[in-house]
Amino acid sequence: MALPANFLDELRSRNPIAAVIGRSVKLARSGREHKGCCPFHGEKTPSFYVYDDHFHCFGCGEHGDVITFVMKSTGASFMEAVEELAGQAGLEVPKPSPQAAEAAARQADIAEVLEAAVATYASWLFEPQGAAALKYLRGRGLTDTTIKRFGLGWSGEGRGQLAGALRARDIGTRQLLEAGLMKQGENGPVDMFFSRVMFPIRDRRGAAISFGGRIMGDGQPKYVNGPETAVFSKRRALYNLDLARNAVRKGAKLVVVEGYMDVIALAQAGFAGAVAPLGTALTEEHLDEIWRLTPEPVICFDGDAAGQRAALKTAELALAQLAPDKSLRLLRLPEQEDPDSLIRKGGAKAFQAELDGAKPISAALYPMLAAGQPRATPEQNAAFLHRLDEVAGLIPDKTLGAEYKQHLRGLFYAERRQGREQGRAPLRAGFGGQGFGGQGFGGQGFGGRGKAPLRPVAMPPRQAPDIEKSDLLRARHMLATFFWHPALIHDLDEAFAHIVLPPGEARLRAALHDFACSAKILDRANLLAHLEALGLGGQVRDMETTLIRDEGRVFDPLESPADAIRNWWNWYNHMSDIIRILRAQHDEALRDYAARMDDAEAQERLKRYTHLLREAEAGEAGGADG
Ligand code: UTP
Ligand code: MN
Repeated sequence: MALPANFLDELRSRNPIAAVIGRSVKLARSGREHKGCCPFHGEKTPSFYVYDDHFHCFGCGEHGDVITFVMKSTGASFMEAVEELAGQAGLEVPKPSPQAAEAAARQADIAEVLEAAVATYASWLFEPQGAAALKYLRGRGLTDTTIKRFGLGWSGEGRGQLAGALRARDIGTRQLLEAGLMKQGENGPVDMFFSRVMFPIRDRRGAAISFGGRIMGDGQPKYVNGPETAVFSKRRALYNLDLARNAVRKGAKLVVVEGYMDVIALAQAGFAGAVAPLGTALTEEHLDEIWRLTPEPVICFDGDAAGQRAALKTAELALAQLAPDKSLRLLRLPEQEDPDSLIRKGGAKAFQAELDGAKPISAALYPMLAAGQPRATPEQNAAFLHRLDEVAGLIPDKTLGAEYKQHLRGLFYAERRQGREQGRAPLRAGFGGQGFGGQGFGGQGFGGRGKAPLRPVAMPPRQAPDIEKSDLLRARHMLATFFWHPALIHDLDEAFAHIVLPPGEARLRAALHDFACSAKILDRANLLAHLEALGLGGQVRDMETTLIRDEGRVFDPLESPADAIRNWWNWYNHMSDIIRILRAQHDEALRDYAARMDDAEAQERLKRYTHLLREAEAGEAGGADG
């Protein structure tokens, strides 16, 4: 008997694959994945990887989902493996009832109807009747390869086209209604889509579940999306999840954007990990789906007020589930731009620069909350403080919630202090703040005083040495800023703690943190005495001398606190994620080595990356202590 697809989904999600495999194989976390020694062939160094929904052995090629694992490791049949997993998860395997069989048949039927529609629309696009639509898509910069990869199509001019074409394949009105391709009109069923460019929407496995249709030109509504059906739910579906998922596994960044065209333009420009909700705000279900793939997705928002409100709403949703492997970064785009328009104007570079400036939620939160909040009277200040506490209170982990509360209040007081000392506009650290919110577009400078910026670094995996060097340099600038402005440590060290540093720099960071927590007077003389006492004086002098000698251009020890903060965030924003890059490279080297065991070069490469990764991980562990 065929089991209903939703039962198998439920079975898989109630039996997380790493947990099931972990019962018989010793697994260690490696980035997003787990790895261990393959149970299917004898090996001493692990090349068996467990991902969110499948396992793969780079040694022997064994591969499959959680059900396959049980079958292969115990010799069970499919139904036996299902029974076993259902028992462990407390699920009842559905009995072959007429209703269940009918529901399964209906879903299979809808899937078939939708695939037939995808093929029909796609073929019409390249026929004479689709000429204008094809011209429209090409005119928006899409190549034919992209058009085909996304299965774009033409609905036909006027009503009745699809029903007519599918009747020849024995697909009738009832089926088209169920699939969301027709709807009830005043005089009976009518086409859902006509005279529109068609965008097939697929589920995480790549099965068609609905469509979006865009009008060519300026009519309303601009996009029509299919209705909710047995297979399509807007609360869950994300456009391009199927392709993005594979790309993210291969190292692409997961980016959430607003629209169909943004996703497609990004994919064509090399950002294959983009997804979009379908005309709704991001929901909890969307976030869950995304966090299965990556612990820190980037969420992109428009620069306008509506985008800001949406960003805050999403941040609040995320806070309610915040955990080390469930966080996010926020990216505010320049006003009037979306990813599609940015790429059209400035190419992939322009978007990469924005992406490099995405802020962790911890840094983005305060400026979002502060925006448009009146704070002229004690009452207004108190209301704002309540709001900060309330938002921090959304975090389920008590300790983390208390940290956020302290962090947000810290920024509030720092801002007030700053405002008083400088007698000017308050500090806007982070997301959307002036000075660095939108500095990335076109790679223009940092704002401030026209210093030569450190260019944002694009990060294709193969450029490791450059990335490491420039990140290390950034980290040293950030440390040196504190040597001259120890009073800033409190406000910045929460964000600083997230960065992976080599052991030497991590030690200094820990020492700075201790100093800020214990010293009564946070000035340079006290700090240097503190570091000297810890035996770190020589390291500090070396670092300052080299920075001033080699980098005098960008490192200015005498800058004002306001400039120091602005520059500090700029370095921070342009740090790339060293450890994740190294992990991806290490995995690639491992795969390469597995494929060509006798190749000395592949072996050397694997050794080198294993070493680099270990160093970086040691640095991370050292940093976490501090
Ligand atoms: P936008 O209005 O930002 O459009 O809507 P866009 O993605 O930039 O589209 P182009 O570039 O003009 O073609 C963002 C998303 O909101 C949904 C769609 O999913 C769209 O991609 N939307 C928008 C609708 O569902 N209906 C509409 O009428 C407009
Ligand atoms: Mn657009």
